[in-house]
Amino acid sequence: MSRGGKSKAEVHDKAQKLSEINPETVVGFKSGIIEFDRVLGGGLLSGSAVLLAGEPGIGKSTLILQAAEAYSRRGLNVLYITGEESVGQLKKRADRLAVMGKNLSVANLTSLEQIFSCLEENQNHIVIIDSIQTVSSDYFESPPGTIGQIRESAGRLIEKAKKDGFSLFLVGHVTKEGLVAGPKVLEHMVDAVLYFEGDSQHFYRLLRPVKNRYGSTFELGVFEMTVEGLREVENPSSFFLSDFGEMQRSGSVVAASCEGNRPILVEIQALVSSASYGTPQRVAGGIDNKRLALLLAILEKKIGIPMGGNDVFVSVAGGLKLTEPAIDLTLLLSIYSSLKDMPVDIATVIAGEVGLSGEVRPIGMAEQRINEAAKLGFKRIILPEQNLKGISEKNIEIIGVSSLERALETAF
Ligand code: TYD
Ligand code: MG
Repeated sequence: MSRGGKSKAEVHDKAQKLSEINPETVVGFKSGIIEFDRVLGGGLLSGSAVLLAGEPGIGKSTLILQAAEAYSRRGLNVLYITGEESVGQLKKRADRLAVMGKNLSVANLTSLEQIFSCLEENQNHIVIIDSIQTVSSDYFESPPGTIGQIRESAGRLIEKAKKDGFSLFLVGHVTKEGLVAGPKVLEHMVDAVLYFEGDSQHFYRLLRPVKNRYGSTFELGVFEMTVEGLREVENPSSFFLSDFGEMQRSGSVVAASCEGNRPILVEIQALVSSASYGTPQRVAGGIDNKRLALLLAILEKKIGIPMGGNDVFVSVAGGLKLTEPAIDLTLLLSIYSSLKDMPVDIATVIAGEVGLSGEVRPIGMAEQRINEAAKLGFKRIILPEQNLKGISEKNIEIIGVSSLERALETAF
């Protein structure tokens, strides 16, 4: 592979026949970190720009430094420009992460003009800017971090990457509200946007592409934050079921959920107790509160269980956030299980969307969910009846249900 500066991204001023363009000339850099490469659509294209966004402290710098090391070990020249830490601080972090950094150069710079001269000195395959909020052009009056500065700096860096043929990673901070101006203005300028998310209370981290010109946005990378940095979680289901144990517990049920196009089995827990005074409480962790209220109303109306006198607490084990309606049925069964103090058989996995009249509606990716449950040794899976069509025999008992009522009869 030729060195960054020389392998210019193919810039032609004449039109070419699409059929005559050799896809082999489009180089994709691989880090070898499977979870990372996958969310990038298999590999990082030269000349492309990727925004890595996430809340402060979530682990963006850790991830990008580990990725930088992985690229560097594969012989790629990486330039890491940090505007947030001194080179010494970066070195300390690198030591902790066992980063050797053979082909990895670092610089502590915040001026766009200085960064440009640094880019001229080095021939890079990959350039990292951590973070774009710290970069500012000397020709602009506004302070670093303002929209004007971010747009100008990012725009010029992206243009440079396309021209010189290096791949560019821009790290951007997003706050809890998510809508911080900076990274949002960048989203349409870059080729891919990866969100790094998680929960400071928990160790898992999810890398989720929200935009990807070269790959699917249905991918998901799962990592675990350890004292030695981020570790790939190849089997997320076992991660989110890790403390499930052998004991049958009422209120705990395993959902066959999907994140992107990845099935993840995860335990949903409910606790229903009689409300001692006032308005009963509904507390949902990792699940939308409104969805919970709606499901409780369905339970009351369609199954005839008055919920007005009960406090209901539900949570997703491991702190994962579940947004897909396919977990409705699992959630309802866990609530019912706690209410009646009857455990659902521990070897059972459940998935299904529940409609307003208590009907169980079909869900997407049924086969993947079944396969995941079978792979992890579960004995049976309860699914919407309509999903059973065309599903071949598996190493797991598959039970179809068409209504919440039928699901309750089947599960208990
Ligand atoms: P960092 O990568 O600095 O976050 P960001 O760049 O998104 O602001 O990581 C922040 C947290 O990660 C920090 O609180 C400590 C933790 N951490 C570990 O748990 N293990 C590690 O090996 C490293 C480097 C950081
Ligand atoms: Mg950082």
